[in-house]
Amino acid sequence: MAGRVDGKVALVTGAASGIGRACAERLAAEGAAVVLTDVQDHLGEEVARGIGARASYLHHDVTSEDAWIAVVAEVKARHGRLDVLVNNAGIGLGGSVLEMSLADFRRQTAVNVDGVFLGVKHCIPLMRAGGGGSVVNMSSVAGLKGAPNLAGYCATKGAVRLFTKAVALECAAVRDGVRVNSVHPGIIETPIWNTVIGGPAGTNAPPDLDAMSEMAVPLGVKGVPADIADGVLWLASDESRYVTGAELVIDGGLSVR
Ligand SMILES: NC(=O)c1ccc[n+]([C@@H]2O[C@H](COP(=O)([O-])OP(=O)(O)OC[C@H]3O[C@@H](n4cnc5c(N)ncnc54)[C@H](O)[C@@H]3O)[C@@H](O)[C@H]2O)c1
Repeated sequence: MAGRVDGKVALVTGAASGIGRACAERLAAEGAAVVLTDVQDHLGEEVARGIGARASYLHHDVTSEDAWIAVVAEVKARHGRLDVLVNNAGIGLGGSVLEMSLADFRRQTAVNVDGVFLGVKHCIPLMRAGGGGSVVNMSSVAGLKGAPNLAGYCATKGAVRLFTKAVALECAAVRDGVRVNSVHPGIIETPIWNTVIGGPAGTNAPPDLDAMSEMAVPLGVKGVPADIADGVLWLASDESRYVTGAELVIDGGLSVR
């Protein structure tokens, strides 16, 4: 049976864990050759090995322009083309904005925004050379509405949302065949929550996602990485050929309330 992204070459950043890992696994299962990148090399290698022959892993800090140049050159050397970029790597730093250091604000912006900018800048030329492609930028419900103790994170995810639309229009204007969309996950169970302060008052414990989801999510439950990977797969595939500049919200209704 034909896969939904047969023959495509995909690059997924932050693929050693959580949502990125699920995206890499889903894309490979549907026929893509997938290059996984991350800074957690041991985990990333393990995930790529688990996927099998269709996957390979590269060390890649998305905040470094030199690293992007090297990764894109490697993708070109190995596969000769790039059809799908999933700009997924991200960090979430919680806590009051009044207590956040400028260094932490900038670190979060470097990963969540600079990383997406650099991915677009260095991957789209290779996509254009192959006649087009699909860029999927990982935003968040926090890119659609504010959340207490997440001001810095909201700033980065809001930036990703509008950056996506501007790049989508730029590509469409030159008819390069490159589509650019953002994905907005709600509460998804991944290790990122270990760094988002939101536990019982006065503690730095990670939040209880089940209790939080029951209270805040209209569907009443948290999501899992595969929920997001299914949406990314659709955006990566030709099934979404008429979709660009769009926001795919996968959040159990969280943002609607
Ligand atoms: N989990 C959620 O509830 C949720 C909700 C909305 C949006 N998101 C977004 O989804 C994306 C994936 O997050 P996740 O929940 O899977 O978290 P995660 O922590 O499981 O995965 C993030 C990955 O990004 C990698 N990473 C961090 N800094 C990097 C860097 N400088 N260069 C390369 N890789 C780097 C990490 O090593 C990790 O493997 C992020 O952009 C996050 O903001 C997550």
